[in-house]
Amino acid sequence: MPKKRVAVLISGRGSNMASLLAAAKAPDYPAEIALVLSNRPEAAGLAHAKAAGIATAVVDHVKFGKDREAFERDLQRALEENKIELVCLAGFMRLLTPWFVRQWDGRLLNIHPALLPAFKGLNTHERALAAGAKTHGATVHFVVPEMDSGPIIAKAEVPVLAGDTPETLAARVLAVEHRIYPDALRRVAEGSVRLDQAAHKPD
Ligand code: GRF
Repeated sequence: MPKKRVAVLISGRGSNMASLLAAAKAPDYPAEIALVLSNRPEAAGLAHAKAAGIATAVVDHVKFGKDREAFERDLQRALEENKIELVCLAGFMRLLTPWFVRQWDGRLLNIHPALLPAFKGLNTHERALAAGAKTHGATVHFVVPEMDSGPIIAKAEVPVLAGDTPETLAARVLAVEHRIYPDALRRVAEGSVRLDQAAHKPD
């Protein structure tokens, strides 16, 4: 089967992107990372992708002001030019409009640093600690128009330990993110998980 052409969308560090690049090196991995795209020109992950010989692009949202759809039309053009079939959001810090999400129905994945449906949105580690959570973790899900609400593809739990700070907890969660995102992408790319089929809705 031909490998699925994947774009990874980032805004910063890009450690999840790096974990996808590493997984995609395996000859039997069903996806290739064909493009790394950032909405921030200074994103550190861009340099990592370039060094790995991956095509990169920048669509700088600042240039579009409040016009989200104009930004997304440029994004869409870059994805089409690169013949992208699946998109992975990996620390991509822009909310996407229903127009964009519908273009990629069942082909758009996100990783969220919490056990969805708990702690949607930002600052998940701080909020998990403040809530006294005993466990925390990460979730990979299909993206639907409502934020952090799509059907779940993979989840991994970590314990919250006495003395944890948002930083120590984030590091423990990040380690499992790097394991579950490549696994979730593999399952979507090979067709063993589909939006309308095996993935279960969050409770
Ligand atoms: C990760 O924790 C991811 O779950 C969240 O943003 C962070 C991005 O980190 N959406 P990185 O850029 O992949 O290192």
